[in-house]
Amino acid sequence: MITANPFYALADTIPVFVMQLFVILMATLVILGTLIDIIHKKNVRYFFENAKKAKKAAKKKLSTSETTSVIIKTVASDILTTSELGAGKRRSAHLLGMYGTIIFWLASVVLIFCYSNVNSDTTVLWPVLWHIGAFMTVIGGSWFWFFLRVDVYSEAHPWYRIIKADLFVLALIASSLFGLIWSFLQSLDLNERWDDKVFLVLYIISNLVLFGGVYWSKFAHMFYKPGAALQKNLAEADGSRDNLPPPADTPEKFGLGIKRDVPKHY
Ligand code: HEM
Repeated sequence: MITANPFYALADTIPVFVMQLFVILMATLVILGTLIDIIHKKNVRYFFENAKKAKKAAKKKLSTSETTSVIIKTVASDILTTSELGAGKRRSAHLLGMYGTIIFWLASVVLIFCYSNVNSDTTVLWPVLWHIGAFMTVIGGSWFWFFLRVDVYSEAHPWYRIIKADLFVLALIASSLFGLIWSFLQSLDLNERWDDKVFLVLYIISNLVLFGGVYWSKFAHMFYKPGAALQKNLAEADGSRDNLPPPADTPEKFGLGIKRDVPKHY
């Protein structure tokens, strides 16, 4: 199963160009959802106004090499390794899910656009990456949703309580999980059996929810977070610090009570 391209077998029933149109539709939905979100929340306007204010409050003008160094550090630390999440489980779960998703989506595009026609070359690498990426997403996403989400981890809500904020993570887990089950059932060659078709339909629906739900879900954080991290790091480097005072230069004295509980209340 893991070395077979599930879209190649699917091309027997669904023409490849329909699959390609579906991918294009999903990308369009992401762009539209993000644009409507930006217009509705006015967050990009706030971002640029804030950047202008920070420029005025800057204590020093950054040289090109200083700015480049801040950008490189932001990409390497805040974005590629999501350092905002600190060391530990939260960051590991996020990295697993994030890289799993990137690999899964990239492999889906490559398999559908380059390896699903009848006369395409067979490839082993991309199907393997597709399955590994989906598996990583299911593990990382489930780890986060069942154990680490703030309302379960810190506020003692039961794991089965579902709210609107869970739309993104649940649709992400569902699309990868249904994709994996569909690929497995299809590889069993069940002929007239319906099982694989049910999971194909669930895979399609979960993708529609994931990519069509950008406006209502946390999907767009993957675009906003990098921008916010860059602004924060530039504000620290030029001394504007978002109008916040610098850290106090005195010993940390919080009393012994601070040691009684792990810091996990947000
Ligand atoms: C393909 C890219 C990404 C995927 C698939 C992804 C996935 C996720 C998921 C599933 C969540 C949990 C959402 C929830 O609260 O229910 C999450 C939260 C989060 N993500 Fe991402 N993410 C991506 C990119 C990024 C990037 C680039 C950053 C930072 C620069 C980032 C920072 C965060 C932070 C800070 C949280 C909050 C975590 C928490 O509440 O503990 N993510 N992400």
